[in-house]
Amino acid sequence: MRVRLKGDAICTLFLLVALCSLLYSQLEHLVPVGNKQLTQKKPSVTPKTFSDSRAPWRPMPPEAMEPRLQVTPVLRQREVANKRVQTTTPSPLSDSAFNFKRYLLNKDNRNFNLLINQPKKCRRTPGGPFLLIAIKSVVEDFDRREIVRKTWGREALVNGKQIQRVFLLGTPKNRTVLATWETLIHQESQTYRDILLWDFMDTFFNLTLKEIHFLNWAAEFCHNVKFIFKGDADVFVNVENIVDFLERHDPTEDLFVGDIIYNARPIRVRKSKYYIPETMYGLSIYPAYAGGGGFLLSSHTMRKLSRACKEVELFPIDDVFLGMCLQRINLKPILHEGFKTFGIVKPSAAPHLQTFDPCFYKDLMVVHSLKVAEIWLMWNLLHSPRLSCTQKKQVKKPFQWKKKAQTTMQTSPLR
Ligand SMILES: *[C@@H]1O[C@H](CO)[C@@H](O)[C@H](O)[C@H]1NC(C)=O
Ligand SMILES: *[C@@H]1O[C@H](CO)[C@@H](O)[C@H](O)[C@H]1NC(C)=O
Repeated sequence: MRVRLKGDAICTLFLLVALCSLLYSQLEHLVPVGNKQLTQKKPSVTPKTFSDSRAPWRPMPPEAMEPRLQVTPVLRQREVANKRVQTTTPSPLSDSAFNFKRYLLNKDNRNFNLLINQPKKCRRTPGGPFLLIAIKSVVEDFDRREIVRKTWGREALVNGKQIQRVFLLGTPKNRTVLATWETLIHQESQTYRDILLWDFMDTFFNLTLKEIHFLNWAAEFCHNVKFIFKGDADVFVNVENIVDFLERHDPTEDLFVGDIIYNARPIRVRKSKYYIPETMYGLSIYPAYAGGGGFLLSSHTMRKLSRACKEVELFPIDDVFLGMCLQRINLKPILHEGFKTFGIVKPSAAPHLQTFDPCFYKDLMVVHSLKVAEIWLMWNLLHSPRLSCTQKKQVKKPFQWKKKAQTTMQTSPLR
């Protein structure tokens, strides 16, 4: 009897300890949702994809996304010679020190050759394509391009509107990673006719060059396009919603829509990878800019931006740079709820819902930070004839987790 009691006590104690450690690990898991989301991705990769590197200078934690402050940028006058970045999370990659001096010295070297062009991209459709999807990629990310081609980046008619696609690439920084890169990229270009390759090194701090060169390319080779979506390869884009939205706009007028970030501050912590010294940017906040996952612009705005960006000094962070170009043409970017360029914030009450409710995606336009398989799965779930969401599309309504949670329970297409 006593032995049994003792055994029970030990057992209870053991269970208690196990429960506590479980709770603790859950807590650890839950508390830094924001930070975790920002840092969890592929830690080994150097900042080649936008998402890895871009997230940390969000002006507020993603939890605060819903009650977004819509403050108009205080910044009015621009100082071309200086600019910088804000952040809250110091980067884990901070040893790859950025050489500002060299950057500033080479700043005027901003015209690079186009090694692979698609001059007929926009000439195939009479009157030009309705939407050009331009996706930043790096040579090494062949699988991401493949999945984008097969899913949301398909060149097809969506609601009767022609969609075209290009990938924007520079030359790989580490050529030993993919010795056959030149053969690969030429083969890819021949097969899909969607590769644009420029002769600059494809690094994080050279993404601004990609921005400039793409805008120039679009103005020259795709002037007849109606609208452009520019984004990353690790996003999920609901092209149907985008077309639906764009049909209500005029391509000959200004339009720039995305997940707009207001009043972001340059990072002054020297150790941060995103550190921008005052000599580079002297003001205390950046102009309003679109978060990197993706944004939309009209043909008209594309041409204006292409000209404006030529007059703006190179700045190492491409979305801030584009914000500077927008400011130069005095165009206020529009914040749209459908752009979740920092991923979806899962409600702590229902972490299991996370990203995989297709009914949730149905209402969105762009969701950032998805794995290749997730993009494929979401696209297929969304296009499955078995999908039935009880709620109708409501792209413009701010999203509410409560309602979505109900929807998930009813449909649960993942079994
Ligand atoms: C390039 O990649 C290879 C293989 O991943 C690695 O061993 C090498 O250190 C890298 N070189 C540079 C300069 O990053
Ligand atoms: C950008 O690309 C140019 C041309 O390849 C290269 O010389 C330069 O070092 C790159 N800059 C950065 C910051 O990576």
